Amino acid sequence: MIYSVRDLHFQYWLDLIPVPALRGVSLDIDSGESVVLSGPSGSGKSTLLSLLGLIEGVQGGSLKFLGQEFAVLSEKKKNDIRRFQIGFIFQNFQLFPTLTAEENVEYFLIRQGVPSLERKKRVKHALEAVGLWDRRSHRPNELSGGQRQRVAIARAAAKRPKVILADEPTASLDQKTGGEILQMLDQLRGEFGTTLIIASHDPLVIERAGRVFQLMDGKEVNL
Ligand SMILES: Nc1ncnc2c1ncn2[C@@H]1O[C@H](COP(=O)(O)OP(=O)(O)O)[C@@H](O)[C@H]1O
Ligand SMILES: [Mg+2]
Repeated sequence: MIYSVRDLHFQYWLDLIPVPALRGVSLDIDSGESVVLSGPSGSGKSTLLSLLGLIEGVQGGSLKFLGQEFAVLSEKKKNDIRRFQIGFIFQNFQLFPTLTAEENVEYFLIRQGVPSLERKKRVKHALEAVGLWDRRSHRPNELSGGQRQRVAIARAAAKRPKVILADEPTASLDQKTGGEILQMLDQLRGEFGTTLIIASHDPLVIERAGRVFQLMDGKEVNL
């Protein structure tokens, strides 16, 4: 089991007014699974992803990552998990605009302390896998939306994380490019046993999901 979530609650604060985002979510995810978090806008998908990514703190309930309770993890341990075990693919890509595709992919590997030779190997492998090795010297503004998303996937993949968290990875892409992106994520799962957790309400994504976890107003609903 990679994640075990019980009765998770989370609220934001806006001008001293609480905004409930998760209202009792329970969910187990096995290693190597492919899970889509679905639901309409505002249902809590991104919030749940940021808790699974150890970006937001647990306010109520329990969240275990590989059997370790989030609440008792030290900051250092949480940082290590984020750095080594979790790959993020954000909705707006969040690539570094001044770095080339190659440098973007390499960046986290440098932070992980991966030795230079191994780093070059992984960067090449990841960029080849997403079909962008010949564009490695391009900066994000010299790439299309689909290509940027592929760089973001390569960047997450090169880390060889246990889990990839992707927030609406197909939202800004046409259907064909979106399909290719999903295929690449599946390939990663096949090659490295990476657990995939994708927040999306795109029918294309839901259709291909191993399992759909349906959210509504911060809670699971059964359709
Ligand atoms: N930074 C924030 N500050 C205040 N409220 C927020 C913030 N982010 C999200 N919310 C609110 O939390 C709820 C869940 O949002 P979110 O997790 O972004 O849903 P989804 O990703 O499904 O669209 C919504 O009501 C949203 O307005
Ligand atoms: Mg969202």
